Amino acid sequence: MAKCKLNLIAAACDNMGIGINGTLPWRLKKEMAYFTTMTKAVKDPSKVNAVLMGRVTWDCIPLKYRPLCGRVNIVITHHVENVKPKVPEGVIVVGGLQEAIDYINSRQDIENTWVIGGSAVYKAAMEHADCDKIYLTEIQKKFDCDTFFPKIDKDKFRLSEEDGVSMEMQTEGDINYFYRIYKKV
Ligand SMILES: NC(=O)c1ccc[n+]([C@@H]2O[C@H](COP(=O)([O-])OP(=O)(O)OC[C@H]3O[C@@H](n4cnc5c(N)ncnc54)[C@H](OP(=O)(O)O)[C@@H]3O)[C@@H](O)[C@H]2O)c1
Repeated sequence: MAKCKLNLIAAACDNMGIGINGTLPWRLKKEMAYFTTMTKAVKDPSKVNAVLMGRVTWDCIPLKYRPLCGRVNIVITHHVENVKPKVPEGVIVVGGLQEAIDYINSRQDIENTWVIGGSAVYKAAMEHADCDKIYLTEIQKKFDCDTFFPKIDKDKFRLSEEDGVSMEMQTEGDINYFYRIYKKV
């Protein structure tokens, strides 16, 4: 059985905020395209990636974009039996992170696993033995937020580089940001 490695992907602003009122505090088209490219990319064309998210993040995805296409969508909730009938066919609903990992490990066709939020799911994934990398877009601006990215333990995760991910500053409108990758040491 292949063992899945967890990659986290998030965008956070200066105060590490990631969300407000069940939505994103900013609108960054290029950054959103980066999220899509990263979470879809596979080396083996016969495989797909999984995106793993908390129930609120699922609810936050606009109806026309969910389930996120070309990826296995996995939703974590304490209320599996309530949520299951409300999601489209093919969306996997599980009761916790480990259950999600066990499901992914039971499939042969999943290449990469992307944890896409929110707070508690990021934290659990970051602390999990199978966590590998954090792809964090660092937005150089402060926004009002009610949801935050958990603190990254810099003794455990070190800044790293990767082919295909620009280290240059990105700009959209009046917002500057960097694509950062933190790899578990
Ligand atoms: N900037 C970014 O990159 C980014 C990424 C993702 C989300 N966001 C934003 O973040 C906000 C949503 O995140 P959030 O932190 O509020 O919520 P969330 O993590 O998406 O969802 C929380 C819910 O997930 C379920 N859950 C979480 N951990 C669980 C566990 N260990 N076992 C079972 N169920 C578990 C529970 O669902 P039940 O209540 O159903 O039990 C919980 O209420 C929105 O504003 C969204 O726009 C931003």
